[in-house]
Amino acid sequence: MDERHKKTFYITTPIYYVNDVPHIGHAYTTIIADAISRYKKLDGKKVFFLTGTDEHGQKIEKSAQEKGMEPIELADRVVKRFKSLWKKLNISYDYFIRTTEKRHEKGVQELFQNLKEKGDIYKGEYKGYYCVSCENFLSEDVPLEKEGHKICPDCGKEAGKVSEKCYFFRLSAYQDKLLELYEKKPLFVRPQSRMNEIRSFVEKGLKDLSITRSTVKWGISVPDDPEQSIYVWFDALNNYLTGIGYGWNKDLYQSFWPPDIHMIGKDILRFHAVYWPAFLMAGDFPLPQTVYGHGWWLKDKTKMSKSKGNVLDPHIILKRFGTDPLRYFLLREIPIGLDGNFSHEGFIHRCNSDLANDLGNLVQRTLTMIRKYFDGNIPTLGEELSDDISLRKRFDALKSRVADFYDNHSINKALEEIWTYINSVNKYLADSEPWSLAKDETQKERLARILYQTACALRGISYFLYPVMPESAQKIWDFLGEETKIEQASLPDLKFEDYKAYREILKPEPIFPRVDLKDFLKDEPKAAQGEPKKEGKMSQISFNEFKKMDLRVAEILSAEKVEGTRKLVKLEADIGDEKRQMVAGIADTYEPEELVGKKLVVIANLEPATIHGIESQAMLLAGVKEDGTAVIPFFVEDIPTGSKVQ
Ligand code: MSP
Repeated sequence: MDERHKKTFYITTPIYYVNDVPHIGHAYTTIIADAISRYKKLDGKKVFFLTGTDEHGQKIEKSAQEKGMEPIELADRVVKRFKSLWKKLNISYDYFIRTTEKRHEKGVQELFQNLKEKGDIYKGEYKGYYCVSCENFLSEDVPLEKEGHKICPDCGKEAGKVSEKCYFFRLSAYQDKLLELYEKKPLFVRPQSRMNEIRSFVEKGLKDLSITRSTVKWGISVPDDPEQSIYVWFDALNNYLTGIGYGWNKDLYQSFWPPDIHMIGKDILRFHAVYWPAFLMAGDFPLPQTVYGHGWWLKDKTKMSKSKGNVLDPHIILKRFGTDPLRYFLLREIPIGLDGNFSHEGFIHRCNSDLANDLGNLVQRTLTMIRKYFDGNIPTLGEELSDDISLRKRFDALKSRVADFYDNHSINKALEEIWTYINSVNKYLADSEPWSLAKDETQKERLARILYQTACALRGISYFLYPVMPESAQKIWDFLGEETKIEQASLPDLKFEDYKAYREILKPEPIFPRVDLKDFLKDEPKAAQGEPKKEGKMSQISFNEFKKMDLRVAEILSAEKVEGTRKLVKLEADIGDEKRQMVAGIADTYEPEELVGKKLVVIANLEPATIHGIESQAMLLAGVKEDGTAVIPFFVEDIPTGSKVQ
C-alpha cells in the first residue's frame, strides 16, 4: 500500500550489542528514527517505534568473560545505560526489546522450526572463517593473510578459523526472488546507491548461510538439538517480528506488520537487505517497505567505534549543551545517506549561528516586543499588509516542502528549508522596523499586524521543528501562550493564522545559550580527542610497581575556582612535609569552600603538569562518573596528614 495512505507506521532501529556502552553513532540512528516517528505522528499516523538490545552470541559471551561477569549481568548493566541515554535524548520509543526476553526466545525458536519444517533449514558442517566482532561468516573470496589467518574486510580484525556441525539456511534458493524484489520495489533499499551495492552482491551468487553455532553457548538453543545455539543474526533480525507482538499479541502484530522502515547504519545493510527478506520470504511474511542504510559519523576520518577508541561520549555534550542542540546538529549537518565528520568546532558553530543567533534571537525579539508594546497580549489582527501575504504564502509553501522532505527522510533538507524561512522572518522584522513604529502612536495598528504575523510564523516554525527538537519547540509554543501540546495539533490542519494565545506572553528565557569553543575545550579536554582507547583487559602490575607511587593523606588548606573555566579548582594541600598546589576538575560536584579542611588521597610523585596556565604539583584521587563528574573519597576517621596510603 502507498505509505501516505496507510494509517499505521512501524519503524525500527537496529538492536544494539551490549558489549559496548552507547556512543554518538548509536545515538544517531535512534535520533533519526525518533524524528521520523514524531513527524509521522504529527501527520496523523498511528506509530510504533521499536528499539532494543542484541544480547546473545560469541561477542557478548567473550566480552562478559573478559570482564569476569555472566553475559546476562553485562547485558543488564549495559541495557540500563542505553535506556538512560534514550531518556536523556528524548527518544519516544514504544517498546524496548531485549533478545533475552522469554517471548522473543520462544518466537525465534518457532520461526526456526517453521523454516526447518518447510525444508529451508538443513543440517551440515561449516568450515571457514568467522569474525566475532561483526558476528559474521567470512565469504570464501576473502584472501588468506597467512595460513589459518584472515582479516575481516568489514572491521579489519582477525577472523578465526571455524569448523563445526551446524544448520544451514537455504539462502541460495532465494537469489532470484531477491533480485525480483529489488526489481519490483526499487525503494526497498535506500539510498539508491546502496540498492546498487546490494543488487550486485546478490547477482554474484548466494551461498547457503550457517544459522547455528555449536561452539557458542550464549544463545537461544535450537529446538530438539540443544547442543546447537541459533546464530545471533537469525536471533536478532527476528526481533522486528517478536517486538511487534509475533507470538504474543496478534492484534498488535496485525495492526503494524510489515515494517515501514528499518533504519540502520550502512555497516549492517547486507544482513537487513539480503538475509532478512530471504528469511521472511521463507516464512511467508509480508516484506518491509524500506531498509534505510544511513552513513557513519567519523572522527578523524574513521568510523567512530569503541574498538578503535575514537568514540565521542554523548554525555559530555548533553551535559553542556542539552539534548536538542545535539539532535539538531546530527540531523542538520549531513544528509542521512552520507558520512559526516564530527568536530566540536562544527558543532559549536552550528549551535551558535543557527540556534542561538537565527532562531534564538527571533524568539527573544518577537516575544520581548509583544511584551513591551502590547503588555504581553497578542495584538489584534489589524489590516492586512502586502508584506504579510508573502510571509503567509511562503509558510504554505514551506509546509508542503517540509512535509515532503520529512516523508522522504531528507531531514537535513527540511531543516534547511525551515532556516531559510526563519531568516526571511528575521528579515521581515528588520525591514519593517517595529521598534521605530512603536514610537509613533498612529502606527499602532501596523505594529500590531507585524508582530502578530511574526508570532504566527514563529508558531509554525516551532511546529515544524518539533520532530527534531521536541523540547525547544514545545518551549517556544508555550512562550507563545499555546495551551496544548504540539503533538496534539495535526499537520494537515495546521494553518498560518490559527494562532490565538490563551494567556499573555511570559518573559522568555533564553533557549539556546552561546558557547565559546575555547572555553568548552578548556573545560572538557577529553571531549576533544574522543575517549582514550582502553585495552580489552587491564594488564597487571607487580606490587613493586605499585610501590613506586607515593600515595599520601593530604589536607586541603585552601581552594578557589580557576577563573574563566567551568570545572577547574585550584587547591593548596598539606601533604605532611610540604605544601603542594594542585588543579582538579571538580567544580561540578563541589563548592571550593566545602573542601577546606578535608583529608583525601593524593599521588605526590606524579610529574607536574600545567593546567590552564597553573602548575599542578600533585593529583588528588577521585571516582569519575559516566558523565565525567568527579566524586572524591574523603577520610571519615581522623588520620595524620602525610600518612602513607597503600
Ligand atoms: N546488533 C547488531 C544489529 C542487529 S539489528 C537486528 C549491531 N549492533 S551495534 O551495536 O554494533 O550497532 C550498530 C548500529 O549502530 C549501526 O548499524 C548504526 O546504526 C549505529 N552506529 C554505530 N556506529 C556508528 C557510527 N560511527 N556512525 C553512525 N552510526 C553508527 O550491529
